[in-house]
Amino acid sequence: MQNFDYMTPTRLIFGENAIEKLHDVMTAFGKRVLLTYGGGSIKKIGLYDRVKEILTDFEITELPGIQPNPKYDPSVLEGVRLCKENDIEVILSVGGGSVLDCSKAIAAGAKYDGDPWDLITYKVKAQAALPIVDILTLAATGSEYDCGGVISRTETNDKIGYVDPLLFPAVSFLDPRYTFSVSKKQTAAGCADAMNHTIEQYFCEDSTLLNDGFCESMLRSLMFNTRKCLADPEDYTARAEMMLCCTYGCNGILSLGNSDSGWPCHAIEHALSAYYDITHGEGLAIITPRWMLHILSDRTIDRFVKYGVNVFGLDPTLPKQEIAEKAINETYFFFESIGIPMHLHKLGIGPERIDEMAHHIAVNEGLENAYVPLTEEDIKKILTDSL
Ligand code: NZQ
Ligand code: ZN
Repeated sequence: MQNFDYMTPTRLIFGENAIEKLHDVMTAFGKRVLLTYGGGSIKKIGLYDRVKEILTDFEITELPGIQPNPKYDPSVLEGVRLCKENDIEVILSVGGGSVLDCSKAIAAGAKYDGDPWDLITYKVKAQAALPIVDILTLAATGSEYDCGGVISRTETNDKIGYVDPLLFPAVSFLDPRYTFSVSKKQTAAGCADAMNHTIEQYFCEDSTLLNDGFCESMLRSLMFNTRKCLADPEDYTARAEMMLCCTYGCNGILSLGNSDSGWPCHAIEHALSAYYDITHGEGLAIITPRWMLHILSDRTIDRFVKYGVNVFGLDPTLPKQEIAEKAINETYFFFESIGIPMHLHKLGIGPERIDEMAHHIAVNEGLENAYVPLTEEDIKKILTDSL
C-alpha cells in the first residue's frame, strides 16, 4: 500500500428537501452571491424560482448560459469580471458538472489579478478562492465532492483538468429529485462517466482488497441503478443511489493507497471533447472497451479476470483469456444497452484528426507513466479502433 495525504472538506447535504438548509448555509458566507447556471434546465424544473425565493434577502448577480464542456471564453472570464465588479462573497452553482467546474475556475480567478488562464494552466498557483456552494442537478462527474474542474478553450483545442484543494465546494446539496428530469442520454452518459472514474482507479498496479471491493460494488450499483433510472426516471431510490455513487467517483476515496493509474481514458476523452465538443460520458464509454482490449496482456490479465468475475459474475473456472475478453465485451454491451452510441463516427468523428489528437494527448497528458504506458502510436490505435 502506498502512502497518502488525504482530505475532502466538502459538507454533503443529501436527500429530499435538502434545500431547506440553503438559507442558513449561504448566510455563513455572506450576502453577495454569484448564481451560476446553464442553459435553462433549472428553470424548467422550478429550481431557479425556489432558490430565488429562499434567497430573497441576498444580493444575487447571475451568470447564466454556462455550456456543457464549459468554456473559458466567455463563461469563466465573464464570471470573474462579475465577481470583481460586484464584490461577490460566495458562488452558488446550480446545475450539472459543467456549471460547477466553471464556478470553480471563477472562484480562483476572482481572487487573482492576472489572466485566470495562468491558474488553470498551473503557470501560477492560486493563493485563494471564493467559497463555492452547489446544488447538483445531474449525477455524473463527482465535481460536487472533488477539487477539480475541467475547462475548455476552443481556439486552442484545450480541455484542461484544473485541480487545486482550494476548489473543493464548501457545501454540496444533493437532492435526487432534481435529477428526475435528466434525459436518458445524459443519465446514460453520467453512468458511463462514473463507471469510468471507477475503472480508472481499479485498473492499477498496486491496489487493496478493500479498494477493489469498493470499486466492484460501485460498478454493480451504477449498472443496476442506471437501468432502473432509465426505466423509470422518477424512481427516487435508484436516482438517489446513482447520485451517491457518482459523488464517490472522483475524489480519490476509491483508491487511497493504490498506485496511480494515470487515468488514460480521461486523457484521451478530454481531447475528443476539446476537438469535437462531444458529451464526456459518451466519449468515455466508447474509448473504455477499446482501451481495455489494447492493454490486455499477460501482465494485466489477472485484473481483468477479477473485474469479470466480481463485476459481471463470470464463471471463475473458465480460462483466464476467455474471462478477460468476456469482461471487456460485457462492458461494451452494457454501455450499448443503455443507449450510448458506441462508435466515434456516430458522434460525427472521422479519422481526419486522429493523428493530431494522438499527438496532442501524448504531448500534454503524460501517459508514458500510466498503469500500462501509452505512446502516441498506442493512442492512435485506440482512437482508430473506436471509430
Ligand atoms: O445547461 P442546462 O440547461 O442546465 O442543461 C444541462 C446540459 O445540457 C443538462 N442538465 C443538467 N441537469 C439537468 C439537465 N437537464 C435536465 N434536467 C436536469 N436536472 O444536462 C446537460 C449536460 O450537463 P453537464 O453539466 O455538461 O453534464 P455533466 O454533469 O456530465 O458535466 C460534464 C462536464 O464535467 C467534466 C466533463 O469533462 C464535462 O466538461 N468533468 C468534470 C469532472 C470533475 N470536476 O471532477 C470529472 C469528470 O471526469 C469530467 O471530466
Ligand atoms: Zn469523467
